[in-house]
Amino acid sequence: MFRTALIIAAATISTGAIAQDAEVSVANGERISIIGGCHDCHSAGYSESNGKIDPATALKGNPVGYNGPWGTNYAVNLRLVVAKQSEDEWVQYLKTFQAGPPMPWFNLHAFHEAESRSLYQYIKSLGEPGDPAPERLPPGQTPKTPYLVFAPPMMPK
Ligand code: HEC
Repeated sequence: MFRTALIIAAATISTGAIAQDAEVSVANGERISIIGGCHDCHSAGYSESNGKIDPATALKGNPVGYNGPWGTNYAVNLRLVVAKQSEDEWVQYLKTFQAGPPMPWFNLHAFHEAESRSLYQYIKSLGEPGDPAPERLPPGQTPKTPYLVFAPPMMPK
């Protein structure tokens, strides 16, 4: 009973399918990409549209930079990342990779294998990888793109 209720309550997402937790599917990958927050940073315009996934730009990277003590970097084009890896390589990669801030790479190490596989299949299903996000810049260079500043707060004296 309880399990049935959970499944019925699962999100219906834009692929029109109901995603169930443990299955490997594109629909589940889409759901994981939403609750994992991937679109927040890796899909241009996603946050500005209050969370509408635009198939033309989904996970193709973001031209709005993150500027901090590390310089300026950009959420990369994830379609290009999966284009260079097999599904098995991606599963291993998500367990071990590290990236610069503000990428929360440590959270991705907690993905279950079925979740990583679903996410891979979803990203692949999005189609043409398109172009890379802008190149990262070293500290001290002013970006030519819009950017967000990640700086320590000004503390009162
Ligand atoms: C807070 C913003 C943010 C969120 C949320 C986020 N990313 Fe990122 N991600 C970034 C940025 C910025 C980089 C580039 C980091 C760098 O320059 O080292 C990045 C880098 C990556 C990389 C490394 C790519 C490479 O090989 O260079 C992967 C893989 C990745 N993100 C996957 C994901 C996935 C999958 C999710 C969702 C589960 C996600 N990210 C959520 C901002 C984010």
